[in-house]
Amino acid sequence: MLRFIHFLGFALWIGGGWATMALALRARREPPETRRALARILPAASNVILLGAALTVYGGIALIVKIARLGIGQTLGTPGRSLMMGAGMVAAILVVLVTWPASRTLARLAAEPGELSPDFEKIRKRQAIVASITGVLGLLALAGATLF
Ligand code: HEM
Repeated sequence: MLRFIHFLGFALWIGGGWATMALALRARREPPETRRALARILPAASNVILLGAALTVYGGIALIVKIARLGIGQTLGTPGRSLMMGAGMVAAILVVLVTWPASRTLARLAAEPGELSPDFEKIRKRQAIVASITGVLGLLALAGATLF
């Protein structure tokens, strides 16, 4: 059950992240009003990503507790497992502290009537950078868990 929760979590998280990135890249070819409309509704996808990150970390920590109780905690000491836990935790913290709140701020700014606030472009650029970093960390975690 814990593995199911952990796997469901990163399926939602990484899948949601790639789908959001595909939409954001595709939107570059669209007129400004379409990009603005997309920014207004993207928090729906950010919520799926946040839920995925929360399930991944919850499942991961619960698995650590279970493995420790079974007395086989040394299986977690491999470089691959350490990479998974380290990269996964940093990525989850970035989602909670940066990308999820920023997507809500962008949606709020996009919904304001009139000209877009100059903050919009600044936050959007930061969002693209941090979201790419979390994506790479998520892939590193998956590689650590499965390849090493
Ligand atoms: C995006 C991030 C993550 C991905 C893609 C990921 C992926 C995986 C995968 C594929 C497995 C199964 C490995 C196997 O059965 O050989 C696994 C197991 C596990 N994960 Fe993660 N994980 C992530 C984050 C985390 C985090 C943040 C933690 C800890 C807080 C964690 C703790 C664990 C534990 C304890 C196991 C069981 C290891 C074992 O059975 O030896 N994972 N993870």
